[in-house]
Amino acid sequence: MITPRYAALIEERRQRLTAELATVFPNGGGSFHCEIGSGHGHFLTAFATANPTVTCIGIDLIADRIDRACRKRDRAGLPNLHFIQAEARLFLEQLPPAVRVANFIILFPDPWPKLRHHKNRLLQADFLSLAARHAEPGCRIYFRTDYRPYFDDAHATVAAHHEWERVGDPWIFEYETVFQQRAPSHESLVARLGVPASR
Ligand SMILES: C[S@@+](CC[C@H](N)C(=O)[O-])C[C@H]1O[C@@H](n2cnc3c(N)ncnc32)[C@H](O)[C@@H]1O
Repeated sequence: MITPRYAALIEERRQRLTAELATVFPNGGGSFHCEIGSGHGHFLTAFATANPTVTCIGIDLIADRIDRACRKRDRAGLPNLHFIQAEARLFLEQLPPAVRVANFIILFPDPWPKLRHHKNRLLQADFLSLAARHAEPGCRIYFRTDYRPYFDDAHATVAAHHEWERVGDPWIFEYETVFQQRAPSHESLVARLGVPASR
């Protein structure tokens, strides 16, 4: 059951996100690369440095990680890079109608190994549907994990989804994140938006 207090908290977060997005897209439209679960911002800072004309937004649940990522961004002096504290689904729901995601990047998402916690995994059918609603034509999802069961699950979820298809594209940009450095091995999946989605 959703309590009035919880509903008010979500509404406050929605309003904050709307305000933050208005500063990134003052004209109300545009496209951007979206890293979900950007952690300390290593990957997206390197990516935005290499692609200075591309708008990049990293989102993460944890305020401390966003703060560290923002400091990294400020030291690098990157006006095309933004980090926003947000939950992925709430963030996508608050995007202005004329703002589209060019590509999604998901690196080493929390694996949630226990069966009863699988519902917490990011890459699920409802997320793919939401992502499709906010993706621009040709959008890709770049997904990488060191947890093989999650990779197999992601592969099956994409294969069963009518809006995304797995493709053999090369990886978007190689730069080791903290989690990648620690992982003995990893698997990557690239999915392309197939059927144009309507909002
Ligand atoms: C295992 S860490 C990986 C961090 C980084 N991608 C890396 O490879 O070093 C996963 C990150 O995803 C964030 N996260 C998990 N679920 C999320 C969600 N639903 N929305 C936004 N961020 C999320 C966590 O807070 C955490 O920082």
